[in-house]
Amino acid sequence: MALSISFNGLKNKEFDFSNLGSDLDAFKEIINDEKYGFFHVTDRKELLDQCKAAHQKFSQFKTFVQVGIGGSSLGPEMLISALQKNDVHFEFLNNIDPDKIHQQLSNINLKETLFYFVSKSGGTAETMASLAIVVNELKKLGVEKEDLKKQFIFATDPLKSDLLNLGRELGIETLEIPSNVGGRFSVFTPVGYLPAIFAGIDIEGLASGANDLKEELLKSNSDFLKATQSLFELKEKENINQTVLMPYSSKLRDLSFWFVQLWAESLGKKLNKNGEVVETGFTPIPGYGATDQHSQVQLFMEGTRDKIICLIEVEKFANDYSLANDLDVPALKRLNNSSLAQLMKAELEGTMKALEAQNRPYLLFKIEELNEVAIGELVLLFESMTALMGHKLNIDPFDQPGVEAGKIFAFEWLAQLK
Ligand code: PA5
Repeated sequence: MALSISFNGLKNKEFDFSNLGSDLDAFKEIINDEKYGFFHVTDRKELLDQCKAAHQKFSQFKTFVQVGIGGSSLGPEMLISALQKNDVHFEFLNNIDPDKIHQQLSNINLKETLFYFVSKSGGTAETMASLAIVVNELKKLGVEKEDLKKQFIFATDPLKSDLLNLGRELGIETLEIPSNVGGRFSVFTPVGYLPAIFAGIDIEGLASGANDLKEELLKSNSDFLKATQSLFELKEKENINQTVLMPYSSKLRDLSFWFVQLWAESLGKKLNKNGEVVETGFTPIPGYGATDQHSQVQLFMEGTRDKIICLIEVEKFANDYSLANDLDVPALKRLNNSSLAQLMKAELEGTMKALEAQNRPYLLFKIEELNEVAIGELVLLFESMTALMGHKLNIDPFDQPGVEAGKIFAFEWLAQLK
């Protein structure tokens, strides 16, 4: 296993681990329920094969635009930031800001771009709006509807969706987002696999990282169960309900944004499973070290005591620089014996020590190095913690009724424009 969890930052606190056995039973019940496919989806080799075949067919493209929002974009963005190995140009049309879209589309040669439209529901307004724009812009360049299949790929629910129907009508290659895998849990499906292959990422490595962790997640008294119970008790007993995710790595910055959606949209719920109003959830806060030591860390150290800091350490960076120098200033002299990776480590160690001195709780997730296996493990761990936390809060972590309500109101507003 590439991933480990250290509980040193919770050593002054007592937790009740007597019910971990029943938590594990509940977790097994969730992952064995066919409605929730996130845990077993990495066993579905045919999803990897679909993406490899699509990559082969379209491998001449060196510009890849993924069009999607929420779970149809945040996971892929995270994979590309963390692991891209080549110089394929990626753009993510993940919002409907006209100025941003104009900038993104102006930067590329539209006729030489592969467009990947991703929507599980196949009807999300933002994604459909971008589809209309791309089709219109291509039309201006002489690309007719029947030619779109040469540079479009879709990914959507395989049973029912407008995107599925359009793909059939226009003969567009359409990949499957399994019906039982929700958007924010879908990074290890064609949603994330296809851009990953185009970025030179080993998608089998991602799946095998997740698969290797499964045995550990299903052990009794595992660190996964303990970490989830600790976060739960901090919230219930001390009202510590803000979860900072702070990797000490720029390349993992987007992991924090992916986690924000997963944790917030899954656990922020008005009603519990009995239909009672509970208005619960955790507020996720994205951060990254060492940069945030000059920003949010002041708040984490001295502000309201409502936060748990989840740090991620990359033990070995692929590159390093010596800081030895012959410049005669004290600020540089004290760096003389170290490397850049050692400075990063020193800053992380310093933050942990300072958090301990302030009696502020933290958890440390360590990965040996930043690679496919480690990302596979981190993703499945956080998804599993989210699913189990949903059980502990007695809410449904797989729905998003609050988001749906906003969509309905937006369409009502649009309808009055007629
Ligand atoms: O996690 C979710 O289900 C949502 O955030 C969706 O990913 C988001 O709303 C986009 O939906 P869709 O993929 O159906 O376009």
